[in-house]
Amino acid sequence: MSEQQRPQDETNAPVFSPRKNGQAQTVSAELAAWMTTGWADTERRDLKPIEQAEHTARRRAAISAAFPGERLVIPAGRLLTRSNDTEYPFRAATNYAYLTGDTSDGGCLVFTPNGEGHDVVLYLKPRSNRDNGEFWLGAYGELWTGRRNSLAEAADLLGVDTADVTTLTDALRSGGAPVRLVRGHDAGIDALVDELRADTDEESRTESARLDEELAVTLADHRLVKDEWEIAQLQLAVDATVRGFNDVVKALPQAKDTSERYVEGTFFLRARVEGNDVGYGTIAASGPNATTLHWTRNDGPVREGDLLLLDAGVETTTLYTADVTRTMPVSGTFTDVQRRVYDLVYAAQEAGIAAVAPGRPFTDYHEAAQRVLAEGLIAWGLLEGPLDRVLELGLQRRYSLHGTGHMLGMDVHDCAVSRQEVHLYGELKPGMVLTVEPGLYFQPDDLTVPEELRGIGVRIEDDVLVTEDGNRVMSEGLPRTSADVEAWLAEHLPR
Ligand code: GLY
Ligand code: MN
Ligand code: MN
Repeated sequence: MSEQQRPQDETNAPVFSPRKNGQAQTVSAELAAWMTTGWADTERRDLKPIEQAEHTARRRAAISAAFPGERLVIPAGRLLTRSNDTEYPFRAATNYAYLTGDTSDGGCLVFTPNGEGHDVVLYLKPRSNRDNGEFWLGAYGELWTGRRNSLAEAADLLGVDTADVTTLTDALRSGGAPVRLVRGHDAGIDALVDELRADTDEESRTESARLDEELAVTLADHRLVKDEWEIAQLQLAVDATVRGFNDVVKALPQAKDTSERYVEGTFFLRARVEGNDVGYGTIAASGPNATTLHWTRNDGPVREGDLLLLDAGVETTTLYTADVTRTMPVSGTFTDVQRRVYDLVYAAQEAGIAAVAPGRPFTDYHEAAQRVLAEGLIAWGLLEGPLDRVLELGLQRRYSLHGTGHMLGMDVHDCAVSRQEVHLYGELKPGMVLTVEPGLYFQPDDLTVPEELRGIGVRIEDDVLVTEDGNRVMSEGLPRTSADVEAWLAEHLPR
């Protein structure tokens, strides 16, 4: 073999994409040959299925039953390049991970109708090729990115048939069943399905979009009620999050010396050590930044005398996330005006939590919390009563701004596309998990409030499981009353 610059097959086509940078651009024939030899067999042949496998099998059976006679295509998503040889952190698509338990990139789950139900095959990136040099020269070779499971190992672990993802195109081209696709995760697979459908007019394109939308909606509907295993995962996420909040309190002195970034970084350390990542961009908002609902720049100062609003959640390695907020006085003690705002938000949260129970409309807890906020704002003279008029016109929303919560699961705003009749206008069911998170936000430039309130933002957010007879606050490991928050700070703040 002569020296080669790029790996090529006999048709002269590159067989894998090489890395883009490097000082050694050529490979001698001797080195290429040597690199193919001398490797031990590391195949693992004694693997037991992961704990989740029995649950993913049940979920796949339910989705199969919902779409008889149709082919379903559910991609994992692919790596997105940030710049040469560098990718953004990858996070598998929620529906893919829900149905497979797999969190790797580049795969695709396919349900193919077989007359009775579906043959379900998980197409995955195989181990890197060692004969053509990919494993050490390829952009995603395993010596650069780490060992992957072999197809046989993945089948054992996940309890599903597996195949090489390079055969996916041919597999999808064969068989004429109508296709439904979870779009938006893998541009290559989206384009392939579009090509296979060959929709020529607006009507057929609209129908294809409807089929895809219906699949996404059905998956979200199925994910609304969590199974036992999912609830345990969410509790792990919440428990790690509680530890992350404790870490932040202990690090407040360093945050005061630096910025909100110290808060974000401290929480992130816990998220990476105990989980996969944070489930959403941490909101570390001190002083007036707390009045910006999704303040993720986190580049402001943390000042003695201000409130710090921390909204953060650890995502488990299985991709379930917590979503918790605490608002704390940096000094350890609320001022009178801060306490007044805090206590009103707390009262609203109590009313909200009390309205979480099976059979109750999903909107009940929002209305209960908003009522308490509106009453308080009227009592303070910020809104003019009567209460019913304020609520009907939603006037309290100038200061409360957002809904009182949302479903929680693998996505922080979970199941957002599920059908309105089972979600927004549906009833709570045991096994649903949601946030209860009222807040009050007095903008620094809001001339309708007294000066002492301007720049104060308070949110209290907890994760709540709907049980058979009511609810359980999963995040009760963190204090909620103003007095308990102060006691917590006194306990953890370094003296
Ligand atoms: N962390 C975003 C939210 O609370 O909804
Ligand atoms: Mn939140
Ligand atoms: Mn939330």
